[in-house]
Amino acid sequence: MKVLVIGSGGREHCLVWKLSQSREVDRIFCAPGNAGISEIAECIDILPSEAERLVNFAQQEEIGLTVVGPEAPLVEGIVDEFTRRGLKIFGPSKQCARLEGSKVFAKTLMRKYGIPTPEFIVFEEYESALLYLRKRDFPCVIKADGLAAGKGSIVVHSLAEGEKVITQMMQEKIFGKAGERVVIEEYIEGEEASIIALTDGKTILILPPVQDHKQVFEGNKGANTGGMGAYSPLASIDENKLRFIKKRILERILEGLKKEGLRYKGALYAGIIMDGEDIKVLEFNVRFGDPETQVLLPRLKNDLFQILLAVVEERLEEIKIEIDPRPAVCVVLASKGYPGKYERNKEIFGLDKIEDVLVFHAGTKLLSSPRRIVSDGGRVLGITGLGNSLEEARDKVYRQIEKVYFEGMHYRKDIGRRKQ
Ligand code: GLY
Repeated sequence: MKVLVIGSGGREHCLVWKLSQSREVDRIFCAPGNAGISEIAECIDILPSEAERLVNFAQQEEIGLTVVGPEAPLVEGIVDEFTRRGLKIFGPSKQCARLEGSKVFAKTLMRKYGIPTPEFIVFEEYESALLYLRKRDFPCVIKADGLAAGKGSIVVHSLAEGEKVITQMMQEKIFGKAGERVVIEEYIEGEEASIIALTDGKTILILPPVQDHKQVFEGNKGANTGGMGAYSPLASIDENKLRFIKKRILERILEGLKKEGLRYKGALYAGIIMDGEDIKVLEFNVRFGDPETQVLLPRLKNDLFQILLAVVEERLEEIKIEIDPRPAVCVVLASKGYPGKYERNKEIFGLDKIEDVLVFHAGTKLLSSPRRIVSDGGRVLGITGLGNSLEEARDKVYRQIEKVYFEGMHYRKDIGRRKQ
């Protein structure tokens, strides 16, 4: 069967890598892909935002399954487009994708269906948001309602900071329409984890918990990024906690959506925070995480294609997930300036010397005459290693990273060193 993967990051490289191992997959396309993906798939020059071109391509090429990586096309309704044209596509419908596309929708649904989440209030007017801020304690969290490329959730520590953020979001519209409504949320201290499950709306298969490292610098300092590295599994999530997450979070959200007349199919990602035994949902995402996927799929023993197709065909109950017990660590190598304005077009050296780890390209581009790979994004590469222990996996990755170089490259040295 022919498969199309939509996206161009490390997550998509990992999806393509895993799907290409399936005996049922004869040909893989990626739109638009990157330098690493082009080594194992046919990259096509169509952007994830070009739904009409993608659906036409899938129809012409008789693609058997399309897999969507990033959130924006899901929120825009690409799944509905493909489904209308009779094409199989992995991901939730536009209505279900509001779980990530609208914080107001997600938080309201969580409150309605008793899913534990920090207390919150929604504001549609600038003045009322300011009045409220003047009365409340700090820190608190201000979230833009819509998609803001991972930058729309800000912890503020004082009234002055809060006023500035509200003004930027609601008056200056730094996130456009996404910030026209805001959620002001209770701040909770604790350990965060990413829970990614696959569901056809009935059966839920939870993949092992992952911990992402969102801040750019060691010790969780500095600005938020898309994720500087990840590891799995997490010693802090035991069977009891997993049961709670399944029953009280994942089953309830699916049940809630069903009561709203919606059936969720795809990857469902709950960003949770744990304070001792207390677990709350900070956010839902409607896709695989990045870089979470780069530690999950290398541990998955199943044929990914079979699982994703089973989700689309609503027969996930037939699948039993098998996981490699070895821990995995992924460290992201980023461009100078990331997560702010970053450099591009820096030649990457040493990739041919790397051994015993997986290299997932995120922001890279292949240039010809002479043939070379250059950086083309904020997050450039993700290096994943598996080991008999977390330490072994981590040491393996950091040893191999020493062989890679591009001007301005930076990465965190403490991935997987958090409290265990
Ligand atoms: N790593 C965070 C995310 O994928 O949203």
